[in-house]
Amino acid sequence: MTRTVPIPDGLPMERDAGPFDPPRQITLLREARPVSPMVFPDGHQGWLVTGYDAVRRLMADTRFSSRQDIGILHIPYETPGMPAATEPSPQPPGMFIAMDPPDHTRLRRKLTGAFTVKRMKQLEEHIIDIVERQLDELARLTPPVDLVREFALPVPSLVICELLGVPYADRENFQANSAKFLVRDQKLEEKIAAYTELSTYLSELVTRKRAVPGEDILSDLARHDDLTIEELTGIAFLLLLAGHETTANMLALGTFALLEHPEQLAELRADPDLLPDAVEELLRYLSIADIFFRYATEDIELGGETIPEGSTVIVSLLAANRDPLRFDNPDTLDVHRKARGHLSFGHGIHQCLGQQLARIEMRAGFAGLLRRFPTLELAVPAGEVKLKTDMNIYGVHELPVTWTETAP
Ligand code: HEM
Repeated sequence: MTRTVPIPDGLPMERDAGPFDPPRQITLLREARPVSPMVFPDGHQGWLVTGYDAVRRLMADTRFSSRQDIGILHIPYETPGMPAATEPSPQPPGMFIAMDPPDHTRLRRKLTGAFTVKRMKQLEEHIIDIVERQLDELARLTPPVDLVREFALPVPSLVICELLGVPYADRENFQANSAKFLVRDQKLEEKIAAYTELSTYLSELVTRKRAVPGEDILSDLARHDDLTIEELTGIAFLLLLAGHETTANMLALGTFALLEHPEQLAELRADPDLLPDAVEELLRYLSIADIFFRYATEDIELGGETIPEGSTVIVSLLAANRDPLRFDNPDTLDVHRKARGHLSFGHGIHQCLGQQLARIEMRAGFAGLLRRFPTLELAVPAGEVKLKTDMNIYGVHELPVTWTETAP
């Protein structure tokens, strides 16, 4: 292993190798030093982990804490979106993605029953119905249309609203505020404003559910007397945000990637049985939820380096999923690949709670879209598609598409 690449000063984020590929500097770093020191914008030295093995080990190791200020409590980051040198506290109630055991365990356990493979399988037919209805509406429009607005965002929003018991009619509030919340360099005041508005809305909603529970996940949670209204609100916030922004970006960016790889798209159209594998491959190839933060609670050996106690650590799931030591020709999108083992849903105790739901939505979404729109194409040159380089979850802001015919 050569060690010629300098220690990065800040996290390389520019998509200079193409819209779907990691920044070149990240790729070089993974080859030279997959566990590397990195200078954070506030000047402190932390670590950046890019190799598949190291990322997987790190995410399985609870000595790497997930407790992180997500910029909505009292402690502003000196640089928006980047953690400071010390472990922040306290955590927002209910946001168990940013907690460690035993708090994380206590809250996550209350939800595992609601998201089992079996429960999700039972929902599959219903999700297919939601997809097909949305495609009916899409087919009635005169192209060109924005696929994000008309398909990729509505499908997961409708599904998560129904599961949680959040009225879909209120989507403008939660979609706009979630989007504001995810802007990487958002001013702290604006982030707090978006958080407060959405939290106030959800707090009223869970309070009503506690008084008069219905048939939905938030009502089931509200029946637990040991959860406070603040915790219920935080859980609702996390599920609503994670439940629609992620899958929406996968559907839109995934469609863009397939349109940019016409031979792969043709193979998928010719053999829809490839779809489950293709979805895993798109998850791997695109890794839309790329950057996660951890904090070393003691000195930890990782990939031949010692990460000192107190270090802030960044992991890049995109870099890990493109590691040639784990996947052959990692930068090639190959719908025939068996990509399971990718880290796009994370790994370890925080591994994505909604992954089965996301898989069902994506399989139904891509299958329906490809079947009903056999002539789907971009309505603008690929270079004009607005990429979410400014957001914490990657994707496209809009995807203008057109078609000449539709199928039943
Ligand atoms: C956690 C990705 C869809 C709910 C995570 C993590 C990743 C991820 C990487 C781990 C975070 C960490 O280790 O810090 C994705 C992707 C999705 C997706 C790529 C879509 C393609 C969903 C959906 C839900 C959801 C549909 C709906 C409920 C959650 C929750 C956590 C989580 C609650 C926190 C789990 C914990 O801390 O124990 N997701 N997710 N996700 N995801 Fe997803």
